[in-house]
Amino acid sequence: MPTLKQLAVESLTHLVEGGQERLAVDDDARGILREWMLAARRGTQVVVPAPVPAPEPAVAPAAAPEMSVEQKLELLRTKAADWKAARRLGTLRETMVFAVGNPHARLMLVGEAPGYEEERQREPFVGPAGQLLTKILGAMGLKREEVYISNVCKFRPSMGGNQGTANRPPSPEELAACSPLIMAEIRAIQPACIVCLGGSSAKGLLGTQQGVNALRGQWLECQGVPVRVTYHPSYLLRNETLSARRALWEDMLCVMQKLGMPISEKQQNYFR
Ligand code: URA
Repeated sequence: MPTLKQLAVESLTHLVEGGQERLAVDDDARGILREWMLAARRGTQVVVPAPVPAPEPAVAPAAAPEMSVEQKLELLRTKAADWKAARRLGTLRETMVFAVGNPHARLMLVGEAPGYEEERQREPFVGPAGQLLTKILGAMGLKREEVYISNVCKFRPSMGGNQGTANRPPSPEELAACSPLIMAEIRAIQPACIVCLGGSSAKGLLGTQQGVNALRGQWLECQGVPVRVTYHPSYLLRNETLSARRALWEDMLCVMQKLGMPISEKQQNYFR
């Protein structure tokens, strides 16, 4: 049975994910929250008296069925479409682009924000960078449909007026406003491994200020899931040097290893 603390954290997370920023609490609740905060600072555990269990009803009511991953994602997609924290900024465009792929994927790839083509097709990574990503996945022996592909920011950042095909990276405020959504997607999917594509994705997921070069080459963690940070495919489109392509491929080989995928000699030696 979940503890009072777990239930409280779950309810508060749910409210925050729904865009709520303030909450009225009575004196009792304030006292409990204060105790938890002080205990967290001291690094000790507060024992909260367990709620007195309600007497068993004579006939057990049907247990509320656990939501499936698909249902959780559908709920998140609906919430995202009207995500107040993002809308309030007034700097993101109207169309919400959610995610694509397999809700039961072991590999989740997270980019920064939709661009022109993604907004038009309402699907992440379908423009030039997306086509390169699909090729990279193919080289790993994976199809797009087998993985889960999403973005930290669910709206194309606005550049004002008619911005044509121009795109800009999301600001820290835009990343922060949308990050509860990607966090909830991670909790729903529980992938075995996440790849952050580019610095904005790493900032949104890991809360770091460091860039890709400093973050590459190590396993990091987001909500208990191993994370590998690598270059955004659009960086490779701009910078077609062998060393950049080799670096991204080495990151992907580490991901394949983490996932226990077979690695052929050809894959191992692509850029050698
Ligand atoms: N770049 C991203 O980061 N995400 C997309 O969906 C497309 C391009």
